[in-house]
Amino acid sequence: MNIEQCTINHLTNPLGYQLREPTFAWKVVDSQGQRQISARIIVSQHDDLNDPIVDTDWSNELDSLGTTCLSEAVLKPRTRYYWTVGVRTDAGEETTSGLNWFETGKLGEPWSAQWITADCGERLPVLSTTIDLKDNKRVESARLYISGLGMYEACIDDMKIGDELFAPGYTDYDQWVQYQTYDVTDMVVSGSILGVMLADGWYASRMGFESRAGDPGIYGQERKLIAELHVVYEDGSETVIGTDDKHWTAKASTITFSGIYDGEHRDDTLIDGAVVSCSVTDAPSGRLEARLSPPVTVHERFSARIVHQIDDVTVLDLGQNFSGIFRLSVNEPKGREVHLQFGEVLQNGDFYRDNLRTALAEYRYISEGRPAVIEPKFTFYGYRYVRITGVENLQEEDFMGYAVYSRLGIRGRLTTGSDLVNRLIANVRWGFKSNAVDTPTDCPQRDERLGWTGDAQVFCPTACYLEDGYAFYGKYLHDMAAEQSNNNGMVPEYIPALRHTTTAAVWGDAATFIPWTLYRFFGDTSILATQYESMKAWVEWVRRTDESGNGRMWGKRFQYGDWLALDKRHRTEEETMGGTDAGYVAYVYYMASADILARTAELLKHEKDAVEYRNLSDRVREWIEYEYFTPSGRCCCETQCALLLALKYHLSADETWTRERLRTLFRDNDDKLETGFVGTSILNPTLSDSGLSGLAYTLLLNEEYPGWLREIKLGATTIWERWNSIRDDGSISGTQMNSLNHYSYGAIAEWIFAYAAGIRQVESADGAGFRHALIAPEVNWKIRHIEASYDSAAGEYRVAWRCLDTNHIEIEITVPFGCQADIRLPLAASDAFTDDRNPLFGNVVDGICHVGPGAYHARYRTSQALVATYSSAMPIGQLLSYEPTRRAIQSVLPMSESTKVPSIVQGVPLADMLRAHGEMMGLGNPDSVNAVIDSLDQALAGVAE
Ligand code: BGC
Repeated sequence: MNIEQCTINHLTNPLGYQLREPTFAWKVVDSQGQRQISARIIVSQHDDLNDPIVDTDWSNELDSLGTTCLSEAVLKPRTRYYWTVGVRTDAGEETTSGLNWFETGKLGEPWSAQWITADCGERLPVLSTTIDLKDNKRVESARLYISGLGMYEACIDDMKIGDELFAPGYTDYDQWVQYQTYDVTDMVVSGSILGVMLADGWYASRMGFESRAGDPGIYGQERKLIAELHVVYEDGSETVIGTDDKHWTAKASTITFSGIYDGEHRDDTLIDGAVVSCSVTDAPSGRLEARLSPPVTVHERFSARIVHQIDDVTVLDLGQNFSGIFRLSVNEPKGREVHLQFGEVLQNGDFYRDNLRTALAEYRYISEGRPAVIEPKFTFYGYRYVRITGVENLQEEDFMGYAVYSRLGIRGRLTTGSDLVNRLIANVRWGFKSNAVDTPTDCPQRDERLGWTGDAQVFCPTACYLEDGYAFYGKYLHDMAAEQSNNNGMVPEYIPALRHTTTAAVWGDAATFIPWTLYRFFGDTSILATQYESMKAWVEWVRRTDESGNGRMWGKRFQYGDWLALDKRHRTEEETMGGTDAGYVAYVYYMASADILARTAELLKHEKDAVEYRNLSDRVREWIEYEYFTPSGRCCCETQCALLLALKYHLSADETWTRERLRTLFRDNDDKLETGFVGTSILNPTLSDSGLSGLAYTLLLNEEYPGWLREIKLGATTIWERWNSIRDDGSISGTQMNSLNHYSYGAIAEWIFAYAAGIRQVESADGAGFRHALIAPEVNWKIRHIEASYDSAAGEYRVAWRCLDTNHIEIEITVPFGCQADIRLPLAASDAFTDDRNPLFGNVVDGICHVGPGAYHARYRTSQALVATYSSAMPIGQLLSYEPTRRAIQSVLPMSESTKVPSIVQGVPLADMLRAHGEMMGLGNPDSVNAVIDSLDQALAGVAE
C-alpha cells in the first residue's frame, strides 16, 4: 500500500501560493483493502515533524478528497511546513505518506520593498542590484518574492530564475496583481547581480479585439517592479534586499518592442544603454497577492519541415497547431533584419494568416553580425506555420518550436479502434493546452486570446477529463469574483474583463457552472465555499435584470444564444447567430444556475438560501414552461439545440414526444448536427441519456460536413471555431471570426470519456470526485474497442471494452481504492453478470451491478447484434438506398427491382407507411400488417454493416 499525489489546494508542494484554507488531499494505491478507515495528518515546521502545529490524530473524518485542518490565519509568513498523512484501511494496513511540504508567501506581512520604475525609452529596461551578503556566513535559504508589471523575467548573473514564463500572470490588474516566490538558495552568491527585465505583457500591451497595433494597453503604461530577496544564514540571521531607488539602477535591453498580439522586436545593433537611476513609483491599484495560477512553462518541442524556400524566404511547417514560442539560430550580416510571421494554415500551398485579423504575430530581429539564438521572452503565438525572411539557406534544424501553457498534468487517456477518433482526442487536448496560457481563452492566435466565459463554461468538463485543471480554473474563478465585485455581481463576457462591462447568458453562467463542475470532478467543496458569493451575486444580478422594467427582461436583452449554430435561416458562411430562440436559452441557463446555487447552498448548509434558490429555479422553470411550451409539452422552438435543452432539463410535459421530435429533426437533416456552442456542448450526453446513443455515435463518426472527423480529414490538428472554418476544397471560409484553435466544440471528448468509455459520476453527493462512479459504456461496432483510464480525484478508473465478433463483447473494469461503482454492462443479457466465467460480479439489481474497488472482467454474448441494427422504424429512402437492407425488405415484401418510391415518402418510416397503407397494398387487416412489420424487423436485424 502506498499514499500518492499528496496535494495542498490540489498543488504538489506549493511554494508561495495563496492558501486561504489549505486543503489536504491524497490517494491510496496498491492496497489490500477497499477503503480508508481512518487517517491522520501531521503538520510541522520541522522536517522530522516534531512539535507539530497540527496533529489530527487518527480520525475517521478526514476526507482524502479534501480536508481542511488549519487556516492561513494560523500560519507564519515565509515559512515552510512539512506534512504527512497516515492511512489505515479496512484490511488492517497502515501506511504513512512520504514527507510533503507547502511554504507560505508573505501572507499579511507588509513589504519593505518599494515599487520602482526606470525610464529606458522604448527599450525594455533591465533593473538590477548587487546581492550583498554578510561576510563569512553560510546561506541556509534564500527566497525571492517578486512581481513586475506588465511582465518580468528575473535572473541572477544572467541565469534565469526558475522556468516560468509570463509572470506575474494575467489578472485584472485594477483588482489584483500576483507575486511569485522563488527558491534561489542555490543561486545567491555575494556580489552576484539580481537583474529583472520588465515588459508590457497583458498589462500594458494592447488587448481586446477593438484595439489596433500601436494602441496602448488598458491597465497602465508604466513598467514597474517590486522584489524582496530574503536570505537566511545558518545562524538564523537575515539579509533582505528590496527594490528601492538607492541600490537599484537600470539599463536598456536590446528588446525594443513586446506585445501579446503583435510579437517582439530585438535589435542587437543597439549599443549598450547608459545606466539610469530607478525611481520609486506608485503601487498599482490592484492588491498585491500571492499567486494562485500554476506557472506557464515550456512543454513539447516541435521540429520544423521546410514547406518551401526561395532565396531568403522560408516557410516552415511544425506539424501541429499550438500555443508557443520558438528558438531560431541565426548568423546574419550586421544590420540584416530577420522577420518571422506565424500562421495556422496554408492556402494554396502558401503562407497565410488573414484570420489573425489585426494581430501582427511577428518577431523582428536585427543582427549584430554574430551568431545568435533568438527567442521571444514576453509573447507567444498560436501557430503551425512560420514564414521567415532575411535568412539565407535556412536549415530545418535551425528552428525549433516550443509549446507553452500552464502546468496541468494528464488525467485522462483514451484510445479507440478508430484512428480518426484518436486524432480527435489529441486535437481536443491540443485545443485545451493551446488555450491554457494562464487563463482559459477562446483562441491563442488572433487579436482576442481573451478569457471568454462561455467557451470556458462549455469546455470545463472536458478539460477535467483530460488534465488536472483545478488550480488553473480556481485562479480564473478568483478573477471572475474580482470582476463581479466591481460590477454589482455581473460576470463580464471575458475574464480578465479589460474594463469591459457586457454579459450574456451561458457566458455569465460560467460563475455557477464552472465551480459546480470542479466540485463534481474533484469532490472538494472548498471551491463552492470560495465561490459561493460569486455564484450568488451572478444569480442575483440576473434576477434584478430580469425583474427590471416591465419584467422578464433577461430574455429580451441581447443574448448569444446557440452561438455559431448552423440553423439560422438565410445564413451566410460568416453568420454567428443560431436559429434557437436566444431568450429561451437564456432562461434555461438562468434556471440551471439558480438550481446549482440551491444545491450548493444545501451542501454548504445555507438553509435559507437553499430554499430561496430552489424556489427561484422552480419559478423560472414555470416561466419557461408557460412561455416556450404548450401545455401538452410541445416546445415552440423546434431546433436541435432547443429540444436538447428541453430533454436535458426535463422541460417538456411529454418527453417521449420531445425525444421523437428531436429524432425526426435529425432524420430530416440526414442525421447531421446543426448545433453551436450551447447545443454541441450538451449534444451527445443528452442523446445518450435519451436512449439515442446510436445517433450520438453517428454524429461523432460522421466524416462529412458538419462534423469533427471531417475537420481531421481536412488536416486539422486542433479544433476549429466553426464547423465551416475550412471548406471542403481547403479554402478558408472567412477571416472575421475564424480561428483554427478554438476548443469549444472539443466538448465532444466529455461524451467520449463519460459515455463511449462509460466513466462518469453518479448524480448524487457521493458521486462527487468520482468516489461513486457509474460505469456504463456505449459500445459501437464501428470503433470496435476503447481503452480508457481516468485518474480521477478519488483514484484511477480503467475501462476497456472490445467487440470480439458481431455478438460478443469483452470488458475490463478497474475501480480504485476507496471507490464504488455501478456497472451497467452494455447489451448484456440478464445472465451476463452471473455467468460462471464472470464470478466477480454479483449483487445485480435491474441490470446494474454494484461493486467496490477491484478489477473486473466479463466476456459475454450480447443481447443483440453489435453491427448497426436496421429496423422498419427507419425512413424508407434510407432502407432502400442500401443494398443489403433493400434485399432484406424484398425477402418479405416482394418488390420488383425497378420499384421507385416517390420522393415525398422517402423520409417516412417504413413501418408508419405500412400501418397507414398496408391494407390498401393488399397486406390484409392491421394484425397481418403488424405481422409483416415484425417479419421485416427480423429480416432487417440480420443485416450486418
Ligand atoms: C470569441 C468566442 C466568444 C464569442 C462570444 C468570439 O469572438 O472568439 O469564442 O465566446 O466571441 O461572442
